[in-house]
Amino acid sequence: MNGHPMKKIPKKPSTPSRETAPAPTAVFGRTTQLDVDNPPPDLYGRPQPDRFMRAVTTFSDLYTPAMGRPLLRRNPRLPAPRARAPLSLVITGHRAVAEEVVELRLADPSGDRLPSWQPGAHLRLILPSGRERHYSLCGDPADRTTYRIAVRRIADGGGGSREIHEELHLGARLTVRRPRNGFAFCGEPRLLLVAGGIGITPLLPMAREAQRRGLDWHLVHAGRSAASMPFTEELRALAPDRVSFRTEDAEGLPTGAELLAEARPGTAVYCCGPTPMLAAVQAAFEASPATALHYERFGAAPILDGRPFTLQLGQEGPRLPVPADRSALDVLREARPDLPYSCHQGFCGTCRVQLLAGTPEHRDRRLTAEERASGALLPCVSRAAEGETLVLED
Ligand code: FES
Repeated sequence: MNGHPMKKIPKKPSTPSRETAPAPTAVFGRTTQLDVDNPPPDLYGRPQPDRFMRAVTTFSDLYTPAMGRPLLRRNPRLPAPRARAPLSLVITGHRAVAEEVVELRLADPSGDRLPSWQPGAHLRLILPSGRERHYSLCGDPADRTTYRIAVRRIADGGGGSREIHEELHLGARLTVRRPRNGFAFCGEPRLLLVAGGIGITPLLPMAREAQRRGLDWHLVHAGRSAASMPFTEELRALAPDRVSFRTEDAEGLPTGAELLAEARPGTAVYCCGPTPMLAAVQAAFEASPATALHYERFGAAPILDGRPFTLQLGQEGPRLPVPADRSALDVLREARPDLPYSCHQGFCGTCRVQLLAGTPEHRDRRLTAEERASGALLPCVSRAAEGETLVLED
């Protein structure tokens, strides 16, 4: 999420690569939800890769000061726009769909239609404990009555998946932010969808959409074992000739080249899975005939150019060394196990802490310049120069 370790890739993606942050995008003339303040970097780490959007931004930057007023002036007599309220949904389905994976179905308690979404979108759940977690929607966007998500239980995680598995039940109410999409499906004519484990969730609606549109698509789903992989029957029923499965217990870990074996000239690859799989696919992409790579990461992004530095809790508090290969959030959570977090990738803002002293390297894509100037810090991704000490509010 925070810059990507890419080799030279001579093929220009036809569309920007995406991770989980909501991003400005248009898919076949339908505009998805926009968050123009937080465009994600593309595969090459460029902050706003889309040429059209760059042109629009450049024009507005020049035009607005020249006119001396905003392009769209808000009527001062009207109340300031309010953020759209979250949804209060009821759990209408809670069932195991694979080893350690449950599927949740969520609906409006009065049966109202749910806000629309597009393949690749995710929901942000606010759990009864206050934890916030993001999960890709894996149902059918045409079904406006139900949202479906699938959650793998992470025994040694932060507790969000355990809470969903063990404490949520049919009929429980859940607060949910409206769907957002940072992994937009562009519907290229030739597609290769590559999923690792629970990374199948955003790709399942893409496969359905590709099939519905009559596109030339293939999906590879890799997992630890057949029992650990959800939705295999649903995929086989969708198009048995277009899906293939690889299990680590039978065939070992697939290489990037093996995962991209079905790519042909003109193929756009969509990949979602754990960091090692993404790294393998990114490394193999250059040598493959594929022409575009879109990907979504779950879990923390790799730390690039990390240097050891120190956190200090309060002006007189304990000093916590942060090694080059660990995030400040990981180190902080050892001292403050209740510190909330969600995305681990610097876009949700959940892990925000207050800086009292020190010079940070902000690596998030969430905070505004004003927030940074006032000392906000997202320790899941942000760091400091070697030897620096960041003093945090205790
Ligand atoms: S956990 Fe989401 S920004 Fe840090």
